[in-house]
Amino acid sequence: MDEKNITKVLVSEEEIRETVARLGAEITATYQGLERELMVIGLLRGSFIFMADLVRRIKVPLVVDFMTVSSYGDGTVSSGDVKVVMDLDSSIEDRDVLLVEDIVDTGRTFAKVIRMMRNRNPRSLRVCTFLNKPEARVVDIPLDFCGVHIPNEFAVGYGLDYAQGYRHLPYVGVLQPD
Ligand code: IMP
Ligand code: MG
Repeated sequence: MDEKNITKVLVSEEEIRETVARLGAEITATYQGLERELMVIGLLRGSFIFMADLVRRIKVPLVVDFMTVSSYGDGTVSSGDVKVVMDLDSSIEDRDVLLVEDIVDTGRTFAKVIRMMRNRNPRSLRVCTFLNKPEARVVDIPLDFCGVHIPNEFAVGYGLDYAQGYRHLPYVGVLQPD
């Protein structure tokens, strides 16, 4: 851990592997016997690494799609504004949908995305997050599949950024900005 400004490791590479394997098994068990492929939808950009690892642990037929919503700008405090920057490619009507997030913090972003997705009438809608910061929650969100609880600190790595940096770290660490 020699990256500048990373003060500690919150989730190690080994814990990431174990967590993704557990979530993949839970999701696989939940979606046995689907009529059509599961639609796994990642919220960009933060979920891209987790998505890539997770789908390889899900053993039912699936397709992937992505959506970009913006909530934070480049800061570390949630603004509560959620904007669709890039929408899905495909319709989710009557499909079994699994939404995948990197982290649920205040819950504002996911709450708005979930509401938006429900309005498109999927057959079923479940949500999966890699990280959860329960102490920061402002809006209650039912998390069907939840990775690791972390304390209320600003996390980077494994897809999560600060000002678009640090996403490529193979572990999740705490960032102490200058
Ligand atoms: P929420 O709306 O407060 O739940 O924030 C959700 C979004 O904010 C996530 O999808 C992340 O992109 C970003 N975010 C929240 N907490 C962190 C963090 O600790 N590190 C990096 N990004 C974060
Ligand atoms: Mg995000």
